[in-house]
Amino acid sequence: MVNRLHYGDNLDILRAHVRDESVDLVYLDPPFNSNASYNIIFAPPKAMRTRIDAQHAQIQAFEDSWHWNDTAEDAFDQVARSGKSKAFDLLNALRTFLGENDMMAYLTMMAVRLIELHRVLKPTGSLYLHCDPTASHYLKLLLDGVFGPEKFRTEIAWKRTFAHGNVGRAYGDITDAIFFYTKTDRYCWNQQYRQISGDKARSKYGSVDPDGRRWQSVTLRNPSARPNLHFPFTASNGTTYQPHPNGWSCNRERLQRYDAERRLHSQRRPAVRCA
Ligand SMILES: C[S@@+](CC[C@H](N)C(=O)[O-])C[C@H]1O[C@@H](n2cnc3c(N)ncnc32)[C@H](O)[C@@H]1O
Repeated sequence: MVNRLHYGDNLDILRAHVRDESVDLVYLDPPFNSNASYNIIFAPPKAMRTRIDAQHAQIQAFEDSWHWNDTAEDAFDQVARSGKSKAFDLLNALRTFLGENDMMAYLTMMAVRLIELHRVLKPTGSLYLHCDPTASHYLKLLLDGVFGPEKFRTEIAWKRTFAHGNVGRAYGDITDAIFFYTKTDRYCWNQQYRQISGDKARSKYGSVDPDGRRWQSVTLRNPSARPNLHFPFTASNGTTYQPHPNGWSCNRERLQRYDAERRLHSQRRPAVRCA
């Protein structure tokens, strides 16, 4: 399934063409239930529009508004029959809470697709769902129902616009949410690093090891009083260090790990130099 583009309803495509546990990563930017017709947004400006353009725009566009009807009822039944009992419990609870309305139709459409997306993900796979505040709170519940709440990893807040000037009685919606869930705890994670310029490296990482590796000294003092993190710590160099009156910023096991990794140093009484 590498390098293949499918065109059509993703529910049909997933069921007909995508095997169980065959996908590494899902990123979905579904309709947000914005109740907007995107025909207008996707069409060329009126002055430039020809009849052909208008027809073409209609083909490309989609209607982001949902209604409780036979299609929604059928999707609801499909979730009931999916064997994903937690997902169905959740959807059913939402139906009790919301009633049979447009939001419920939207969430049912999403639930039946999220179940398929969960099915096709590999055990090492991840899913990113991009949405906005219209339905993000309900979508996160659905994801908990389909993946399990413990498979939630992070909510990425994407600042997509500048502050609005036209908000009178509320705060401007300037972020979208991207929910990151994984199929299992054995998920693939490629740590990202960013190259920084020589000047920035020199100013930010002012200390240098004999092998030329730069590093930055970070305090191990807790910013607020934490009596449970107030203990003397004896490092591998035999010196016992007392914490700041607030306590250490981490527990003894982590201090021991830093020590073993030669990442501890003391400006007054060197313990172990950072490697
Ligand atoms: C919020 S837009 C995503 C736009 C896109 N990410 C971009 O930046 O241009 C949602 C998209 O989902 C598509 N869509 C809606 N329902 C769909 C379905 N059942 N199967 C496949 N695509 C669907 C719409 O056509 C639309 O392009």
